Amino acid sequence: MQRHESSVMFRSVFRCIRTNPVAGQRSMSQSSLAGKVAIVTASTDGIGLAAAQALGKRGAHVVVSSRRQANVNKAVTLLQSQSIQVTGTTCNVGKGEDREKLVQMTLDQCGGIDILVSNAAVNPFFGNIMDSTEDIWDKILSVNVKSAFLMTKLVVPHMEKRGGGNVVFVSSVAGYQPMQALGPYSVSKTALLGLTRALAPELAHSNIRVNCVAPGVIKTRFSSAVRRKRHGPLCITLGEPEEVGGVIAFLCSEEASYITGETITVTGGIGCRL
Ligand SMILES: NC(=O)c1ccc[n+]([C@@H]2O[C@H](COP(=O)([O-])OP(=O)(O)OC[C@H]3O[C@@H](n4cnc5c(N)ncnc54)[C@H](OP(=O)(O)O)[C@@H]3O)[C@@H](O)[C@H]2O)c1
Repeated sequence: MQRHESSVMFRSVFRCIRTNPVAGQRSMSQSSLAGKVAIVTASTDGIGLAAAQALGKRGAHVVVSSRRQANVNKAVTLLQSQSIQVTGTTCNVGKGEDREKLVQMTLDQCGGIDILVSNAAVNPFFGNIMDSTEDIWDKILSVNVKSAFLMTKLVVPHMEKRGGGNVVFVSSVAGYQPMQALGPYSVSKTALLGLTRALAPELAHSNIRVNCVAPGVIKTRFSSAVRRKRHGPLCITLGEPEEVGGVIAFLCSEEASYITGETITVTGGIGCRL
């Protein structure tokens, strides 16, 4: 980023925070999320489930969702067995009516929204980017980028009613360095880095922080499908979903009260530079 662009962004963030009466009242060094309500999309498995667990263990009431009711039921049972306050529903984030249903159900059952973790992503294409079609681009950009923004747009008015909130997007190391054969998916993950930076200054005046995590290669169903398609070994250490979930919970806590517009890479040392 050019120095000029970066200084424009920070001036804009600081201008908002200086005039925000709520920001000055934050207490420091609090990891507790007691009393907070957190929506985590695509949260019945992998990183989303680990994020729900990390938020729930810190006291948040978590709302888990994914496309399949059976997966939602399983995740709710698991989280309840860990004494986490949890509500679950189906939601395909690519569908507008599902996004609205998720938000309305959260308001009806939990009384408000403080946290959104936008975690859902799809990758329907593996191969040379030049072979990708318009349909593939529409699907990937719609689910991975547009839905992340539209979910944010839906929850922001409710966060404002609570005096602030937190949004965390789940990008990827591929957003910094496109992975071979994952061109369109990688581009969608780069877009989330931009979305984080575009939203943070706009929402600072509402005391809403917007951050992002960029995981490396994490041991999940999603990455095992990608790893199976690669020929030859992957010479890196795999991360665990919990190692990303904890960072997401940190970003949503008061301990991160001075962090916004930031992407934290969780890669076990893989270099990340745009
Ligand atoms: N694993 C990695 O190495 C890695 C690395 C970097 C970034 N990421 C990112 O991390 C996020 C989660 O990936 P993961 O590896 O944790 O995946 P995962 O373990 O395969 O879990 C995917 C979850 O998403 C749900 N899901 C899939 N499509 C959905 C949709 N359209 N709407 C709502 N829910 C949906 C699935 O449940 P249903 O089937 O019931 O819908 C499931 O709960 C993604 O954004 C991915 O790009 C992963």
